[in-house]
Amino acid sequence: MNPFKKMEPGLWLRQGRIGAVWLVIALAGWWFYPAATPLKAEAAPARPFSDPGATLAALPDIGLLGLNPERVALGKRLFHDPRLSADNSIACASCHDLGKGGADPRPVSLGVAGHPGVINSPSVYNSGFNFSQFWDGRAATLEDQVNGPIASQTEFASDWPSIMKKLGHDGDLSTAFRKAYADGLTPANVRHAIAEFERSLVTPSRFDRFLKGDGKALNETEQHGYALFRRYGCAACHQGINIGGNLYQRLGVVKDYFQGKTVKPADLGRYNVTHDPEDRYVFKVPSLRNVALTAPYFHDASAATLEEAVAVMARYQLGVELPPEDRADLVAFLKTLTGEGMGS
Ligand code: HEC
Ligand code: HEC
Repeated sequence: MNPFKKMEPGLWLRQGRIGAVWLVIALAGWWFYPAATPLKAEAAPARPFSDPGATLAALPDIGLLGLNPERVALGKRLFHDPRLSADNSIACASCHDLGKGGADPRPVSLGVAGHPGVINSPSVYNSGFNFSQFWDGRAATLEDQVNGPIASQTEFASDWPSIMKKLGHDGDLSTAFRKAYADGLTPANVRHAIAEFERSLVTPSRFDRFLKGDGKALNETEQHGYALFRRYGCAACHQGINIGGNLYQRLGVVKDYFQGKTVKPADLGRYNVTHDPEDRYVFKVPSLRNVALTAPYFHDASAATLEEAVAVMARYQLGVELPPEDRADLVAFLKTLTGEGMGS
């Protein structure tokens, strides 16, 4: 199976290294665990790919993102505004707690009237760097994404006319929107302001300092964890600025993750968008930034700890049973992806 089949050629080129993913995984398995040889190099690499570590990139300086501070401030207000929900009970922040890694510590979030959702809430931090939004990539932009929770019966269960009516009664908010946007308070501007706020949620970490050349930013154990992350082939999927968020991949590449489990509609992932049988169980590879703060893990919240999540990844994505010391070092590395000054 080849989950990349559906990618537009432009994306393929932009990602540049997608073809190499398979080779890297295969090479990592061969080099590190000769017995495992987990994957065939289905797609030959378009160009030499000698250092998988080169696929990871540091976050850009927020000053270079060209964000409008007034719009960011409006978006921040709305992100915390329960009037977006039908009964004024919950806000975006209810399921994306900015003090808890921007995600939800509950396996599934609860929407209005306590309606449980179907999938674990991912982090909004650094979401501006994902190539699409949602586990299945069904929203192309952060602006589009906002329509999701508004309409979802297990989230805000609302609609734009009702929201605009409520917000329109708020003179202060309307004035602020008129100052920030030529056409004032409109659904499109509400979406834009929220997206602009999310784009500002950038969390530089010690690992970014390390990538930029500060060799002391990571201790020896963490550096060893980073080396393992590349050698095992984690970096083939979790790559780019977000250490994830830039390609789709199947959960269970080398071993059937869903065997013996009851498959729910949300487990079908990208298939729900494309209806291509090859896209079953294919998800956007999640960003690993701040991952130490966002337990439980996976779309189905099936892993309670980072140790467990790492072991599951090695087993189902790479065909490897990790020795405990490697698992510990990988976790030590992942902890360096926490934004400095956040959480811990
Ligand atoms: C009731 C809980 C809940 C509320 C309220 C909620 N979200 Fe979410 N959010 C989720 C869940 C669950 C997902 C994953 C859904 C999926 O992928 O199918 C998600 C996904 C996202 C994503 C995609 C991140 C990624 O990595 O793909 C973004 C961005 C986001 N939400 C922002 C918002 C914003 C902005 C609001 C308010 C307008 C909001 N959310 C309201 C639970 C919630
Ligand atoms: C073949 C691609 C691929 C490889 C290789 C891979 N991952 Fe993943 N990873 C994914 C996908 C896809 C998911 C999302 C799965 C889901 O939740 O359905 C994921 C999820 C995760 C998560 C959970 C993130 C969250 O927020 O829930 C962690 C942690 C993780 N990977 C770490 C690793 C580590 C460490 C390695 C190497 C041992 C690795 N991954 C190798 C594709 C991959």
